[in-house]
This record gives sequence, structure tokens and C-alpha cells, in this order.
Amino acid sequence: MIRLAIIGTGGMANGHADSFKAIKGCELAACCDIVPGRAKAFAEKHGIPKAYTDAGKMLKKERLDGISIVTIDKAHAPIALLAIKYGLRVMCEKPLADNLRDARRMAEAARARKLITAVNFSYRNCPATQMAAKIAASGKLGRIMHVEGSYLQGWLVGKAWHKNEGLLWRLSTRHGSAGVLGDIGVHLFDFASFIVGDIAALQCELKTFNKGLKRIGPYVFDANDSMAAIVRFNNGALGTLHSSRWATGHANTVALRVYGNKGGLDINLDRPAPETLRICVGQDVDTNTWWPVKCPPVPDMYRRFIDAIKSGKQGQTSFEGGARVQAYLDASLKSSANGGKLVKIKN
Ligand SMILES: NC(=O)c1ccc[n+]([C@@H]2O[C@H](COP(=O)([O-])OP(=O)(O)OC[C@H]3O[C@@H](n4cnc5c(N)ncnc54)[C@H](O)[C@@H]3O)[C@@H](O)[C@H]2O)c1
Repeated sequence: MIRLAIIGTGGMANGHADSFKAIKGCELAACCDIVPGRAKAFAEKHGIPKAYTDAGKMLKKERLDGISIVTIDKAHAPIALLAIKYGLRVMCEKPLADNLRDARRMAEAARARKLITAVNFSYRNCPATQMAAKIAASGKLGRIMHVEGSYLQGWLVGKAWHKNEGLLWRLSTRHGSAGVLGDIGVHLFDFASFIVGDIAALQCELKTFNKGLKRIGPYVFDANDSMAAIVRFNNGALGTLHSSRWATGHANTVALRVYGNKGGLDINLDRPAPETLRICVGQDVDTNTWWPVKCPPVPDMYRRFIDAIKSGKQGQTSFEGGARVQAYLDASLKSSANGGKLVKIKN
């Protein structure tokens, strides 16, 4: 039995608890949240025997095989580094850290101890994402030339976010948020690079629009809420990736189009299967005809993490990969601060 603890028991932690509880051979032994009473209520809701308010105390006291970090972004690094010291396997929410230096320290610490790690890049859970990556890697599209990707949300246009603490910290750099870039741009960078390949260089502009209010309580609205990037992939492809919280009518739309010299693929996670993924290849390129692709079920990130712990073989995501995506975020921030200058990614 793999004994896990969840650290950070806010909104997303419910998804972690439900997913881990559904996996045979895995048990939730404890949970922790710094807000008094929150972990206790979470423990009662999910049938977890122990609840703590201090991650350090929990790690010292509990006999665990691994942890899942679901705290706000700036708490990821200190908790992961501590857990690694205890020799624990760690799954961490995205972004891996709130800065590149910490992300690299986390990857290096896990590598030095040869520990299994995972980052919850959850759009890889979709069968169409895994199939799109396979199709792109198979050469069916030929040499990839052009890529266009977007991740759109529209919640800033309404008013409901004013009363939602789970959204307010996402607008505030002092709460460790790197804005739309760090919250959902991070998914887009992983999504695009998982399907197309690693990014060599990028230019980016980040914008923080006026929201009518400058702050609510401790949350100062200084984090970016729109990003537009021009990216160059290692394989020579050119692309645009953009993301915004001002995209009216979009609750959560992740989409990517990949064009090669033999065909294209078009994935939009809002479209129900089998239309989620479409391809246009072979003779169909002459008539611009797109066909849906049937995609078999795939294991989600939680199952991949548990499977990796059991087998001792690192799974599809890792702190190393999370740190690479963090380098794209870091490059985006640097580029934007320098008027959209091209920034090369150091791997
Ligand atoms: N993979 C995904 O699709 C996805 C979706 C949503 C959120 N997330 C990520 O999950 C994380 C949590 O997001 P959320 O929406 O649940 O936010 P949330 O604000 O609802 O929950 C965060 C929780 O962390 C707790 N916390 C903060 N510092 C802590 C510490 N040092 N020790 C213990 N607990 C601490 C807070 O008290 C809060 O309860 C973020 O990193 C976010 O980016 C990922």
C-alpha cells in the first residue's frame, strides 16, 4: 500500500483526493493546510485519518511513501525540498515553483536522491493530448512548420471572482502568482511542447489590465492577465501561444493547431470526443478535409505517479520537465520586461 499525504487542502486538492482514493493500492494517510480547521474539514470529507496545520510536523511524524503538493504556488518549493530530504516521492501542482532557480533546485534535489517526481500537467490526462503527441512524433504531419495554441478563460469579465479567494491570490504577485502566465500559460507551454517538442527561444508580452479595483483585502491585482508569445521550437517550427482571463464566453478552453509539410492536427479540449482531435493528412490536404481521431483511454497523472512509485520507473512528467517549463515562464517574464526581446532558453 502506497501511503500518501496531501498538502494544501483548498479547491484543487479535492480532485487529488478523489483521484488517489480511486486508485487501488494507494491510501491517503494524512493531509495538511496552514489555515486552521481547513485540513480537518477536508480530512472528514475524504475519510483521511490525520490532519495537520504544519507540513514540517506532519512529515516528521507520519510514515509516508509520497506527498502531493496542492498549495499556492510559492509554497511548492519549500515543501517539496523538505519532503525530498525525508526521501519521499513528490507530485507537485503546476507551476513547479514560482521562480526558475527554485524549480531547478527541486529538480536537482530529486535527481540527487533518485526520487520519483511528477508535476500535475493535467491536460495530459486527455486521451486526445496523448494521441496528438504520438501523431506529431510519428512523422505523419511531416516536418512541423507552424503552431498556434491558446488557453482562454473569461472570469475577469464578470464579478464573481471578487468573492473567491481561490481566484484572488491568482491576481497577486505577493501571493506568489505569476499571473495568467504562471497559472494557465504554464499548462499551454506544457501542452504545446509535449505535442510539438521543446522550445528553443521565445518573445512574449504580458499585460495587466485595469480591473476597476486595485486590490481586495491583502490581494493587490498586479499580476499579468493576458499573454501573447511568439515561440521557436527546437525542431525549427514557429508558433504563437496566447492566454487570457479576459476571453468572454470561455470557461476554460485549451486548443492547439500544428501544421507540418504533410498535414495538420487540430486539438480543442472543449470539443467532445471524437471531435476533440482532428487531422488533415494524405490526399485530404488538397481538399482541406478534416477527420476526427478516435483516442483510446489513457491513465491520468495521479495513476501515472502511483504506477511510477510502484515500478520505480520515472513517469511521463517529472520535476526536470517541470523545471524546463518553468524556464519558458522565466523567459516570458524576461522578454516582456525587455519590450518583447527574443530570449533563448538554456536547457
Ligand atoms: N493542474 C491543474 O489543472 C490545476 C487546477 C487548479 C489549481 N492548480 C494548482 O493547484 C494549487 C492550488 O490551487 P487551488 O485552486 O486549490 O488554490 P486554493 O487557494 O483553493 O488552495 C490552496 C491551499 O493551500 C493552502 N496553503 C498555502 N500555503 C500553505 C502551506 N505552506 N502549507 C499548507 N497549506 C498551504 C491554502 O491555505 C489553501 O487552502 C496551485 O498551485 C494551482 O496552480 C492546478
